[in-house]
Amino acid sequence: MKDFPEKDFLVEEILRLKKEKNAVILAHNYQLPEVQDIADVVGDSLELARAAVTRSEEVIIFCGVHFMAEGAKILNPDKRVFLPRIEAGCFMTEMMEMRQLLEMKREYPGAVVVAYVNTTAEMKAHADVCCTSANAVKVIQNIPADEIIFVPDRNLAHYAQRFTDKKIYWPNSFCYVHQKFSREEVEKARQDHPDAIIVVHPECPPEVIDMADEVRSTGGMVRLPGEVDAKEFVIGTEEGLIYRLRRENPDRTFYPLGPARICVSMKITRLEDVLASLKESTFEIHVPEDIAARARVALERMLEYV
Ligand code: 13P
Ligand code: SF4
Repeated sequence: MKDFPEKDFLVEEILRLKKEKNAVILAHNYQLPEVQDIADVVGDSLELARAAVTRSEEVIIFCGVHFMAEGAKILNPDKRVFLPRIEAGCFMTEMMEMRQLLEMKREYPGAVVVAYVNTTAEMKAHADVCCTSANAVKVIQNIPADEIIFVPDRNLAHYAQRFTDKKIYWPNSFCYVHQKFSREEVEKARQDHPDAIIVVHPECPPEVIDMADEVRSTGGMVRLPGEVDAKEFVIGTEEGLIYRLRRENPDRTFYPLGPARICVSMKITRLEDVLASLKESTFEIHVPEDIAARARVALERMLEYV
């Protein structure tokens, strides 16, 4: 898209309006390259939640999915938060109903509830603490209880269970993007790239995690090349991250695990939408204060974990 003058115009307008409106643009690691390029902060869910709190701008344009923008609003009730494409939802978040969590709470009344950030505000309001893929293990290890209800991702819950003797209960939800990674794809990647480090996201199925060299959040994957001498990496997560990895590490080689996997919700935000968001205030996120107040407690507890 680089050679098109319209793109230059869009970028100039975005940068001008961003300044004029005192806005910060936060973008998840899976966003389109042109969106990552104009963002002030690109990161994983935890890094972006922290940036939403620490940045001083009064307006947040969140290029990601709905639960991320909602989380930013809950943590910053006095800032205006916008999601450029309101239909950008997370399929895993939508897979679990409130009714299921209430049933689990009735079934395990002594359990502490941990909500992955990939949940609605209402579900966070019924949780004791939130976590992301970057700190799920740490959060669970530090909970002073023997029983934990973890919602909604069964694969992340299963992964965290490997690091604790506490009993974790989880529902049957998953991410349709990460669920597709398979044992056969890891075997093939080992054959094709024997010197590569195979790193996968903890939303992948347990049998894929068993075979990987590293299991990391997307932010953890970004740090990996700086921590090891390897020259080649096989990346088991949504393909948007590979753009950032290649840009930041031109001397290393990154291959997708299996065919490039795409989260459609992460790919619908374009520069035009970011510009519209700044110009026409589309689409502002609101969370009813009674729900936000309770969800905030769970999110702020999460931010206490480094
Ligand atoms: P990260 O927090 O690791 O970026 O993951 C977010 C997500 O939605 C993974 O699918
Ligand atoms: Fe949700 Fe999966 Fe998309 Fe992440 S990749 S936003 S978990 S659907």
